[in-house]
Amino acid sequence: MIKLYRIGREEVEAVARVINGKKLFRVGSPYQEVDKFEREWAQHLGVKYALCVNGGTTALIAGLAGMRIGPGDEVIIPSYTFMATAIAVLAVGAIPVLAEIDGTMTIDPEDLERKLTPETKAVIPVHMCGFPANMEAIMELSRKYGFKVIEDACQADGGSFRGKHTGTWGHAGVFSFNDFKIMAAGEGGALVTNDYDIYERALIYHDGGAAFRPYAGELKAPVFVGSQFRASEITGAILRVQLKRLPGILEDLRAIKKEFVAHFKDQMIPSNDLAGDCGTTVGFSFANEEEARNFAASPGVGGRLPIDSGKHVYINWEPILQRRGAHHEALNPYRFAENQGLRMNYSKDMCPRTLEILRSTVYIGINPDWTEEEIKTRIESCQRALDT
Ligand SMILES: Cc1ncc(COP(=O)(O)O)c(C=O)c1O
Repeated sequence: MIKLYRIGREEVEAVARVINGKKLFRVGSPYQEVDKFEREWAQHLGVKYALCVNGGTTALIAGLAGMRIGPGDEVIIPSYTFMATAIAVLAVGAIPVLAEIDGTMTIDPEDLERKLTPETKAVIPVHMCGFPANMEAIMELSRKYGFKVIEDACQADGGSFRGKHTGTWGHAGVFSFNDFKIMAAGEGGALVTNDYDIYERALIYHDGGAAFRPYAGELKAPVFVGSQFRASEITGAILRVQLKRLPGILEDLRAIKKEFVAHFKDQMIPSNDLAGDCGTTVGFSFANEEEARNFAASPGVGGRLPIDSGKHVYINWEPILQRRGAHHEALNPYRFAENQGLRMNYSKDMCPRTLEILRSTVYIGINPDWTEEEIKTRIESCQRALDT
């Protein structure tokens, strides 16, 4: 993924405004930058509540806490995602269980259904590289079996599935705004939901000072001990500008991806919804790893295999595979009495289909600012590589 698609003068001015106003902390008089961003983000996505936090990982943790996920619960996640998805599950004391992806690079609903047990209390579909997961199938399973869904849309800011934004299909959704994301503020994240109970609990969890905030008197639930996931006014100010840029970034990414798809058709990985795909990444599908590697390394292609993306591939999640789930053994969810009997025997060959797909796929990251000439040259290089 390209770092910082578009950022410049407007963000500098927004940050200067915050600094000159000498108000960098989000709490205080209402209608500051973070408050405004939360309202604008919720409105953009068409949801009731948005909570801006300091990262995608913390948004996931706050969301899981909001859903009352904890010890004794299994949470199913795809075996291809950033390790943060698994970390968030452990942070609330639950156990991550891995499911296979399918050719769309997102969780395979059939394998998800196979892996469900009465202990499955939540599922985290991940819209990797802006490729939408099949939310219709996943929500149907959720209704049938009664688990909660929290979408990890960290790599899919502004994406959609069948005309509805990714992150708004589930009971909650989370986004990341770190430097590698479609909207970027260095660090940052957001949780969105239509469920007031989830929102309020996440609000409490995200701020250790919740009991002392102006909104404390309006809370329906008693305040419990939370953490410190607050976003700063600088983050809020940058994100408000980034949100204005988002439609333009997505339009340009999608237009470029469309040219690749029109040209390479069947060589492209399948999609659950091309119109909603964020367009950050073009995926080519090959019969095997050798063909994929030859293509990726061909002159002018600039491709990479997702199997090489390290932290996104479960076989590299050593702390999880080794069940080192916390800084202190007494806080390690793998040791909790409530979790004994849950599935925690991980092995590197537990999701073979995922590994096969990651080894036979090649990604090309799209830059929304490529010129027509650059797009043409890239497509020609890819075609030449396929022809040889
Ligand atoms: C799929 C996925 N989930 C979660 C995260 C965590 O986001 P953050 O780095 O903002 O905590 C990321 C970020 O890289 C991600 O790509």
